[in-house]
Amino acid sequence: MEPNVVFEIARCQPRHLRRVLQIERASFPGEPYTRDIFRELWCECGEFFFVVKVRRRIAGYIATRLREGNAEVISIAVDPAYRGAGAGAAMLEHTLERLAAAGARSVELMVREDNEAAIRFYRRFGFRRIGRCAAYYGDGEAGVRMRRTLDGPPKR
Ligand SMILES: CC(C)(COP(=O)(O)OP(=O)(O)OC[C@H]1O[C@@H](n2cnc3c(N)ncnc32)[C@H](O)[C@@H]1OP(=O)(O)O)[C@@H](O)C(=O)NCCC(=O)NCCS
Repeated sequence: MEPNVVFEIARCQPRHLRRVLQIERASFPGEPYTRDIFRELWCECGEFFFVVKVRRRIAGYIATRLREGNAEVISIAVDPAYRGAGAGAAMLEHTLERLAAAGARSVELMVREDNEAAIRFYRRFGFRRIGRCAAYYGDGEAGVRMRRTLDGPPKR
C-alpha cells in the first residue's frame, strides 16, 4: 500500500459483517470465527467493535468486550493485502482511547504462542505476557495471555 494512507475508523454495523467474515477467513484459515459468532460479538462488544476503512473499503476489524472496568480484545485482523501499513495500530490505538474514556482499567487478550508478529505488535502497545494456556487452540497450540493497564492516555 502507498505511504501516508488515511485510515477511517467506524463502528461496525451489521452490513459490515460479510466483509469482516471474509477478512477473518483470510486471517485465521485454521479456525475462523463463524457468522453466528460475529453476530454475538456484535451484540456483546457494542460500541467497541470497529472496522478500519481505506478509501471506503473495509481493511480490518477489532472487537473488544468491556466488563466491569476490564476489557478483552476478542479478535483483531487486517486483510493480508493491507497489513504492515498501520491499519492494525490505528484500530488498537482508537480502541484503547475509547476504553480509557469509558473508564476501563485494564485490557487483556489471548494470542497464539507461535504468532510472533502479533505478539510483537501487542508488546509495542505496552501489553505484557501474564500467563500461558497449554493446548488452548484446536490444533494444540498454546495461548499466551497478555495484559496492559489503562491509567491515563494510551501510550504506544
Ligand atoms: C496483527 C495484525 C492485526 C496487525 O495489523 P497490521 O495492520 O499489519 O499492523 P500495523 O501495520 O499497524 O503494524 C504491524 C507492524 O509490523 C510491521 N510489518 C511490516 N510488514 C508487515 C506485514 N506484511 N504484515 C504485518 N506487519 C508488518 C509494520 O511495519 C508494523 O511495525 P511498526 O509499528 O514498527 O511500524 C495483522 O498482522 C493481522 O491481521 N494478523 C493476522 C491476524 C492475527 O494474528 N490477529 C491477532 C490474533 S490475537
